[in-house]
Amino acid sequence: MQDQLSALLAQAAAELPALTTRPEFEAAKARYVGPHGALTALMKQMGALPKEQKPVAGKLINETKGQLQTQLDTALARIEAAEIAAQLGPAVDVTLPSPDAPPGTRHPLTLVRDELCSILRKAGFVIADGPEVETEYYCFDALNTPADHPARDAQDTFYLPDGVRFGNVAKKNPGEKYLLRTHTSSVQIRTMLAGKPPIRIVAPGRVYRRDTVDATHSANFHQIEGLYVDRGVTVRDLKALLDYIFASLLGPDTKVRFRPHYFGYTEPSFEVDLSARHLPKVNKEWVEICGCGMVDPLVFEGVGYDTDVWSGYAFGIGLERLAMMLYGIDDIRYFYQNDLRFLRQFS
Ligand code: DAH
Repeated sequence: MQDQLSALLAQAAAELPALTTRPEFEAAKARYVGPHGALTALMKQMGALPKEQKPVAGKLINETKGQLQTQLDTALARIEAAEIAAQLGPAVDVTLPSPDAPPGTRHPLTLVRDELCSILRKAGFVIADGPEVETEYYCFDALNTPADHPARDAQDTFYLPDGVRFGNVAKKNPGEKYLLRTHTSSVQIRTMLAGKPPIRIVAPGRVYRRDTVDATHSANFHQIEGLYVDRGVTVRDLKALLDYIFASLLGPDTKVRFRPHYFGYTEPSFEVDLSARHLPKVNKEWVEICGCGMVDPLVFEGVGYDTDVWSGYAFGIGLERLAMMLYGIDDIRYFYQNDLRFLRQFS
């Protein structure tokens, strides 16, 4: 009996790993352990054995049964895995982007920037760009901001150490310094030097000031610069454009007010206040949002434009303040903390 049991196990060990389908498996299982199978037949033979041999034979049969079951389980698991793989199709290409990747949300500043750019594009403006590392020429000199102007003070502006060269930002004058641009107005000069009027550009970007960070100040923030140069441009055109963009962005109830101001690169110059009491959490009547004016003829002369022919307006809008108004945000620092609980509330 022992030999027969060993032979049965050996036969199973040879046969079961070669099975590939469930019907084959079921048939083999019946042959080994089914009611009419080989093991059952051996168990029946036990009855004919002498009484003293029965316990030993019974133990052997039980052991064999356990081992056969293990072999059958292994074979079934293998066949099932193959069935699942066949259902799933070819192997998964793990280099493909996951279709289930969480989409994320756009940053509120990106949303406001893109919205404003798209509003301005409807009015014929095209997007322009300039470097964040600038020279004094583009940031100040060409914008008629003299060397002793307070905006150029080392307390207000991040100057870069002498001797460091910035690849594609060429100095106009040998003695001038590199700095982190304090406003996007530098893009006005770059655009005018690179092309001919008429010009109608919008230049969004990051700017830097030596400000102490608090709820309304940040050492880096964002602006959107606009410049329009053409024949016969007037303050009326400027006011009409600002009325249009702020009403489009914040709603038709928005009011826009000009206050006289001074900027070296515009004459006359204005600060622009918005009244938008319909927005949540806007509790001041007028909020300052923007500087603007008619391009100063001195700036045109500096870039070689004929001031008898060309006129224009320019404006610079603070993006953070606009986003804070629009979304009812009361602290500028939220924009930069990358807290998903904050960021996921927009878009
Ligand atoms: N550059 C100014 C600032 O950062 C804003 C500004 C004022 C931009 C007048 C302009 C302008 O284009 O004409 O405060």
